[in-house]
Amino acid sequence: MTQRSIFLTSALPYANGAIHLGHLVEYIQTDIWARFQRMSGHELVYICADDTHGTPVMLRAEKEGISPEALIDRVWAEHFRDFTGFGVKFDHYYTTHSEENRELAEGIYKALRAQGLIEIRQIDQMYDPVKSMFLPDRFIKGDCPRCGAADQYGDSCEACGATYSPTDLKNPISAVSGAKPETRQSEHHFFKLSDPRCVQFLRQWALQDNRLQPEAANKLREWLGSGDNPDESELGDWDISRDAPYFGFEIPDAPGKYFYVWLDAPIGYYAGLKNWCAKNGRDFNAFTAPNSTTEQVHFIGKDILYFHTLFWPAMLQFGGFRPPSRVYAHGFLTVDGAKMSKSRGTFITAESYLKEGLNPEWLRYYFACKLNGSLEDLDLNFNDFVARVNSDLVGKFANIASRTAGFVRKLFNGQLLDDARPAGGLVAGSTMDDHQALEAVFIARAPAIAEAYEARDTARATREISQLMDAVNTYIDQFKPWELAKSGQASDLPRLHRVCSTSLRCFARLCVLLQPILPVVCQRARKEVFGLEPAQDDQAWLWNEIDWPAVGRVEVFGHLFSRVDRSQIDSLIHANIEG
Ligand code: MSP
Ligand code: ZN
Repeated sequence: MTQRSIFLTSALPYANGAIHLGHLVEYIQTDIWARFQRMSGHELVYICADDTHGTPVMLRAEKEGISPEALIDRVWAEHFRDFTGFGVKFDHYYTTHSEENRELAEGIYKALRAQGLIEIRQIDQMYDPVKSMFLPDRFIKGDCPRCGAADQYGDSCEACGATYSPTDLKNPISAVSGAKPETRQSEHHFFKLSDPRCVQFLRQWALQDNRLQPEAANKLREWLGSGDNPDESELGDWDISRDAPYFGFEIPDAPGKYFYVWLDAPIGYYAGLKNWCAKNGRDFNAFTAPNSTTEQVHFIGKDILYFHTLFWPAMLQFGGFRPPSRVYAHGFLTVDGAKMSKSRGTFITAESYLKEGLNPEWLRYYFACKLNGSLEDLDLNFNDFVARVNSDLVGKFANIASRTAGFVRKLFNGQLLDDARPAGGLVAGSTMDDHQALEAVFIARAPAIAEAYEARDTARATREISQLMDAVNTYIDQFKPWELAKSGQASDLPRLHRVCSTSLRCFARLCVLLQPILPVVCQRARKEVFGLEPAQDDQAWLWNEIDWPAVGRVEVFGHLFSRVDRSQIDSLIHANIEG
């Protein structure tokens, strides 16, 4: 195996709101992939951070009567607590409001400017004369120009789906002060994405090396135009500046002008990496220079594809860095078939889930079952959630250990037999007995499961793993250890020992296979069921233990998983009803 070096990120959550179950789709998906890579022996740095800048953070701090800095510090701690609670293990969780980020953003801006890729233009903007500030589209409300629906945002209508510019709204008002906005001119800085150099680069970057999922690549073809002539592209230039007052970084040589939050947000990936490198004595350039051999992989939601497949690669390429190796988007979470809703209580915060005492690994497992590596939306159906957790995790997985370990402890002093290794290799052959055959099935299926993890198709991985759980339970049903134990015939004892040892060794293998999804319970199983130390510092199991897990005995252990009860879900929903 060649060891890969991977720099991995999830999108940086906004610092103006709580982490909810929709967010967790992404962080759990990325964390599963990260854990799979680490336990397979690859070097991986997983970086994330809070996305702290912009008008919403500024206005919210003002409303709470605190400074934006105080607000983002508080939210950072809440976000970090929530991620930790769900077992999302970043190598570093940083903030975009950092000196590293300011320096990197200025550096990239200056590099773009030096290449003639920045242009300053006068544009019309909506202005709030009472609040004395320019208004982002989301802070202007009015009647939809198409269907007339009242109280719609400045960029799109939730009633009819029309998109438009805020200057088209009928009877517009400022959502900040209620004043009627005026149109005023302002100088803005643009990144000239329409420049043929950018278009050419993006066409070539996006469509090679399987960087993007097929659905995403299609979107990009649409955005970039397909022709060989770069002038045909539909790509517009990108407005990267905002006027004061704004919470963000001031643009060099442009007093009163700030970088738009989406300029410095992805640069925050690099700022987090840079801070991690400094703390760990690593060379930032080795990761980020144009000739770097590290894979740079971004996990994102499909709503922010545009930023990550157009703006960000172009910023890196023309800012003196290497572009991303791959960008993987996932779909959006719905709850019981509908968009998450605060009034129905399905806008569920990570904090409330943990507070209500639900096991975070139930959700990790459920999301894993639903995610298949595509951009499709996924639904959290609570009845299905209850059924799956109880049937797979309690009924199939944990049950294997509880059906067999007791006999080994009581009758065989806790010692496992270890002479059932499939002879001469790993593939099932005709000379193998039933016991060896079961172990061989695990070894034979492991590569396909690894492939599914690599492709983020955890739906397939969990399907395969669940079939292996079934195989072990069927094997136990076939040999009926409980009957062997009480038959009183001497010859049944070695048989019982063999059946239980084989089952428990396969249970250990299930822990290997499930560790990316269920790190806590798999780590507990290693320690509590088998009395073993972690295989490596912070990794209980390594992927190659599939061949022959180093388990020799079983200990006394408590419940690995409890059942989820529908009433727990009902009180979770109840706790999230607002308004
Ligand atoms: N701050 C930007 C990202 C900047 S990355 C340089 C942002 N923040 S966010 O808080 O709105 O979303 C963070 C991530 O969570 C995004 O990838 C987004 O797609 C994802 N999700 C937010 N709500 C979601 C669902 N309901 N379902 C699935 N993913 C969701 O965007
Ligand atoms: Zn409308």
